[in-house]
Amino acid sequence: MVNIDWNNLGFEYIKTPFRYISTWKDGIWDEGHLTEDNTLHISESSTALHYGQQCFEGLKAYRRKDGGINLFRPDENAKRIQRSAHRLLMPEIPVDKFINAVKDVVKANAEYVPSFESGGTLYLRPLLIGVGDTIGVKPAPEYIFTVFCMPVGPYFKGGLTPTNFYVSDYDRAAPHGTGAAKVGGNYASSLMPGEEAHAKKFSDCIYLDPATHTKVEEVGSANFFGITKDNTFVTPVSPSILPSITKYSLLYLAENHLGLKAEERDVFVDNLQEFAEAGACGTAAVISPIGGIQNGDDFHVFYSETEVGPVTKKLYEELTGIQFGEVKAPEGWIYTVEV
Ligand code: PLP
Ligand code: COI
Repeated sequence: MVNIDWNNLGFEYIKTPFRYISTWKDGIWDEGHLTEDNTLHISESSTALHYGQQCFEGLKAYRRKDGGINLFRPDENAKRIQRSAHRLLMPEIPVDKFINAVKDVVKANAEYVPSFESGGTLYLRPLLIGVGDTIGVKPAPEYIFTVFCMPVGPYFKGGLTPTNFYVSDYDRAAPHGTGAAKVGGNYASSLMPGEEAHAKKFSDCIYLDPATHTKVEEVGSANFFGITKDNTFVTPVSPSILPSITKYSLLYLAENHLGLKAEERDVFVDNLQEFAEAGACGTAAVISPIGGIQNGDDFHVFYSETEVGPVTKKLYEELTGIQFGEVKAPEGWIYTVEV
């Protein structure tokens, strides 16, 4: 039996038995296979190591009450990694290949999918890297696509208990850069500001739009949303934030399941008082309520620093209910994994 403290999972690397790996060479992907080896043997000159030619994804497998396993919108992750790959001149992974790799990894590691009761999930990390012998600044001759997984609990400690965030002076992405692609460089540039935020006891940074520093963009590891005092679900629109699958799902659910108005629009950092509630949303973050935001000398509290707001709670219940198979999902959102 697997020796894991299922009820106290955090968001940490745990080596699970199997991962999928496939190689692209001479214009074609090989079949790919599962392996027990969690190390990669690559050329010292790989573009992924020098020039950041890599991109990744994050999605989860959810254990239903009846013991079955759900995936949430994996086709959207497949399409997003194609867009990220396109931005960095890497070969596209066909959608079917991506979804089958994810399913194979879940199946092979099925005993690591936490129980429904634990509230944990199996986090999957698909990764595409440029490898091979090259040294000029140009696309790699070969690529590796791998998918590994681990059981996880909440990303921000506290789960549905609000935590506080900190407006950074740094940018995670440039106005016409790679902010909308899920590429490692965006996260490398968020490490120092993220550590600054942690040192000041905040959960993470809020980044402003890189051109004017007047509008909220997103959190270093999740998107931002707010609920206005007249019950509109609002999330920032910007070409330099990650197009979050959770955020687009919440825009749909807010409008079609909860009867709220839902808008993607500018969110000005000096107008946070328009929101009665706020949160961070993403695959890892799920929905993490934001207690308050520190912006320079100003500390703005939304609903409460200790209690989740009622609309955020409803959104959380709707979203996670769908993911865990307790609430009827919109057509095409749930893929099941037959073990
Ligand atoms: N924004 C950033 C910077 C992220 O890393 C993530 C996580 O994937 C998100 C937003 C949320 O995206 P998604 O809901 O697709 O996981
Ligand atoms: C995710 O939510 O999947 C992420 O990638 C966020 C973070 C762990 C980088």
